[in-house]
Amino acid sequence: MIDMAQKIEVEKAKTSRIASVDFDNLPFGSVFSDHMLVCNFSNGEWAAPKIMPYQPISLDPSAKVFHYGQAIFEGMKAYKDKEGSVWLFRPEDNQRRLNVSAKRMAIPELPKDYFMEGLKALLQLDKDWIPQSEGSSLYIRPFIFASGQGFHASPANEYKFIIATAPSGAYFSSGKVKVLIEEVYSRAANGGVGYAKAGGNYAGQFYPTQLAVDQGYQQVIWTDDLAHEYIEEAGAMNIFVRINDTLITGPVSDRILNGITRKSILEIAKQEDIPVEVRKLRVSEVVEAAKNGSLKEMFGAGTAAVVSPIATFGYRGMDYDLPELTQSYAAHFKKRITDIQYNRAEDPFGWRYKV
Ligand SMILES: Cc1ncc(COP(=O)(O)O)c(C=O)c1O
Repeated sequence: MIDMAQKIEVEKAKTSRIASVDFDNLPFGSVFSDHMLVCNFSNGEWAAPKIMPYQPISLDPSAKVFHYGQAIFEGMKAYKDKEGSVWLFRPEDNQRRLNVSAKRMAIPELPKDYFMEGLKALLQLDKDWIPQSEGSSLYIRPFIFASGQGFHASPANEYKFIIATAPSGAYFSSGKVKVLIEEVYSRAANGGVGYAKAGGNYAGQFYPTQLAVDQGYQQVIWTDDLAHEYIEEAGAMNIFVRINDTLITGPVSDRILNGITRKSILEIAKQEDIPVEVRKLRVSEVVEAAKNGSLKEMFGAGTAAVVSPIATFGYRGMDYDLPELTQSYAAHFKKRITDIQYNRAEDPFGWRYKV
């Protein structure tokens, strides 16, 4: 096997921008580190990755990504512990999922070592950009898009894989998230691309989410496209509810992203003997539980916010408030996951990955 780490060419930035960054007031995902990794696909193969200064890229106006949306991405984070060591959380799952998305969007799959070795080399070079303060991390955005030219509606013959990183603070500025259960628009359909992290899945959510924002909500909870009867997921999070002491989440399907945070929560719950049900969850059941007081919690789970407690959900013109618990599952799972991510606790699952 070729040693990928040896093959990565590195062009360092002449000067670092790091001194201009206020690490105590980091936004989410809008300040970018000094370097990025770029890897091109042409003539039927991926060329060796190259690390270069973070910079704009030039594309032909006919590049297929602009017309047919052949674009996929991942979202992950690097964490720095008290000693300054750098960790990733289940990165091989992101690598695998990128290729699941690639396959569905007719994008050539990326060899595993290009992703893993490329990512590690980039993080080692930009190590100083990984924040150390509580709740902050380096958000990592690996993505692939069709750079090949032509207006013909067919898969491109050239692609770019890029990893860009952004030192980031918390995803939601306020802890109180208000969501709207959507009954008109759909995020995904049977046989569609909902399970892929395809750019178009997110573009399609912006308009209905904007309508929800105009009504005072921050996020939409998607329901099934068939009858809008079952809870599916949020814009960038899987959804959990707690009825009495049972934790419930929907099964993943071709409409729902197989979230890494979701499956980590399920494994922790199993280890701790928390009653869990992975099953289809009717909106009517959640509304009923809210009315009779058995609905204790509702939260989103995803890399960006880790666990995001929902304070209120709206449905058919009514708002339902969730109780404020002193000992919530949401806080418990968030602590267990972040303690593993930041190397503050044992990792019995082997999820932490040293860079
Ligand atoms: C649509 C969608 N659902 C769920 C998630 C949560 O997945 P993960 O926990 O792997 O970040 C994300 C974010 O990646 C997402 O975009």
